[in-house]
Amino acid sequence: VEPIDYLRIIRRRWAVVAACLVVALVAAWVTTPAQSQMGKPVTSYTATATLLQPPGNKNSLDYIGLFVTKGDVPIAAAKKLGFDSDPALLASQVQVSADGKVGSLTITSQGTDGDQAAKVANTFAEEIIAFLRRQQQEVASAEISELEKQMSAAAEKVEELNQQLKGSPDDSLLKAQRDAQSARYGTAYSQLQQALERSGGDPKLSVLQAATPIPVVSGGFTPPSSHKGRLTIGGMVGLILGCVLALVLERIDTKLRTRAAVQEAFGVPVVADVPHVPRGLRTKRSTVVVTAPGSEAAEAYRTLRSAITFLESRPIAHSREADTEPDARHQSSSRWTPNVILVASARAGEGKTTTVANLAACFAEAGRRVLVLDCDFRKPEVNLYLDVPNGPGLSDLLASTDNADLMTLSRPTVVPAVRLVTGGTALEQPAALPTRMTRLIAEARDLADVVLIDTAPILLANDAIDLMPYVDTVLLAAKSGRTVNEQAERVHELLARMRVPVSGVTFIGAAGGSPWTARIFGRGQARGSRGWYRQLREKSHERQPL
Ligand SMILES: Nc1ncnc2c1ncn2[C@@H]1O[C@H](COP(=O)(O)OP(=O)(O)O)[C@@H](O)[C@H]1O
Ligand SMILES: [Mg+2]
Repeated sequence: VEPIDYLRIIRRRWAVVAACLVVALVAAWVTTPAQSQMGKPVTSYTATATLLQPPGNKNSLDYIGLFVTKGDVPIAAAKKLGFDSDPALLASQVQVSADGKVGSLTITSQGTDGDQAAKVANTFAEEIIAFLRRQQQEVASAEISELEKQMSAAAEKVEELNQQLKGSPDDSLLKAQRDAQSARYGTAYSQLQQALERSGGDPKLSVLQAATPIPVVSGGFTPPSSHKGRLTIGGMVGLILGCVLALVLERIDTKLRTRAAVQEAFGVPVVADVPHVPRGLRTKRSTVVVTAPGSEAAEAYRTLRSAITFLESRPIAHSREADTEPDARHQSSSRWTPNVILVASARAGEGKTTTVANLAACFAEAGRRVLVLDCDFRKPEVNLYLDVPNGPGLSDLLASTDNADLMTLSRPTVVPAVRLVTGGTALEQPAALPTRMTRLIAEARDLADVVLIDTAPILLANDAIDLMPYVDTVLLAAKSGRTVNEQAERVHELLARMRVPVSGVTFIGAAGGSPWTARIFGRGQARGSRGWYRQLREKSHERQPL
């Protein structure tokens, strides 16, 4: 898909984009807050206590941090704060983070009540300090009692050795032993002094800064509060959403809009691109070839006439991949011109009747005598295009038992060389169609050079299928933005089974042509169509012919 195609899609689905824009603008207008509501509401507070570790301390801060939220500290804090439930719940409100490099530990608490948050953070800070001090004291007192034990043991030994020395004052061994014991006593004493000092000494952590409540403003994008600002943003959002929605719809939508897609789906070449005729030109079911003979659309129908006259039509192969030989009957006669042409389409409103009327006028221009048979018994409308009042027609002929002939039923039209047999009374199910049509078509062949048959939609009624064995060629009609891919494929399958020669597809309202302005702003234009047989020959290296 080219970028230009995106623009075209958005242009085609402008209603979706406009709807999104309007909804977004209304929403932006309606949700603009009143003046009193303005300002940023404070939703919560955060409070952080910062603790500092004196330099030279060996304890890991991460290790200390663990004790803030686990074990005794939360229990003590909960008690102090009068928190009734599980202390772990209280601890979950607290975040601890340690910075080993600086030697700091922060304890943060959040809540809608700022003072409470600060109190929680500070209590946890106090409790971890108290906990560490207790730990310190426990360690020190264990050390002190051990040292005291050592000292009293050494003092006892010294006393004992002194007693022995009194008996033998010159025993140098005893002297040495006594001196060693008194040295041991001295060491233990000095260690004891240190331990005593430590137990009451510097704490391992101290509060650097107590927590204070700080309001938290909900961050991120805050929409403007003025009508103008809101409408601007709403408009942009609406436009973007609209474009996205348009592209999404385009993906979901399986309607055929391009020549290539039509050829792919029907498995048959497009033999004429009929441009979209503006409403002004096609009021009251006019036939453009008659009302606007110089228009592009009229020219496209002339192209169609030539394509049918000079190009060979062939049956559709059963399988799209199969490389079947063309039917011998049609291959041998390259100049064979079909006399009886049936116009069919998948569904209603795809341009069958328009095509029949215009094609009839084109053949008349070329000097042919044309007979149009309106076999769309559900919606007989050709008479509207050719300006003939509806009267007794084919359905009445088929219903009656007497052998009325076609000539008496056919009526002159606005185009002198074109005669029409109207559909007659609208019918749901023309009973005797298949049995009586053989004779009628044979009769019609004698009455004119070209016989054009308008039919009911293939996927709606079996009428067209019933007629196909008796006609020389089938021309399909498809309309851009109306014909659906799957339905075109079903038509392809049906025609492949029928083995009737198919001339190709008339594609109405195609977007095509090269100037980009035309591709965006115009619905397309007529292009001369090359023979589809030749086109397929040229393309046969990419895709097998039908
Ligand atoms: N070239 C065209 N540009 C615009 N509208 C068209 C064109 N050809 C046909 N239409 C419109 O398409 C509608 C269906 O055409 P019609 O021939 O009645 O279809 P069908 O016979 O298959 O039901 C009609 O309203 C007709 O005016
Ligand atoms: Mg019709």
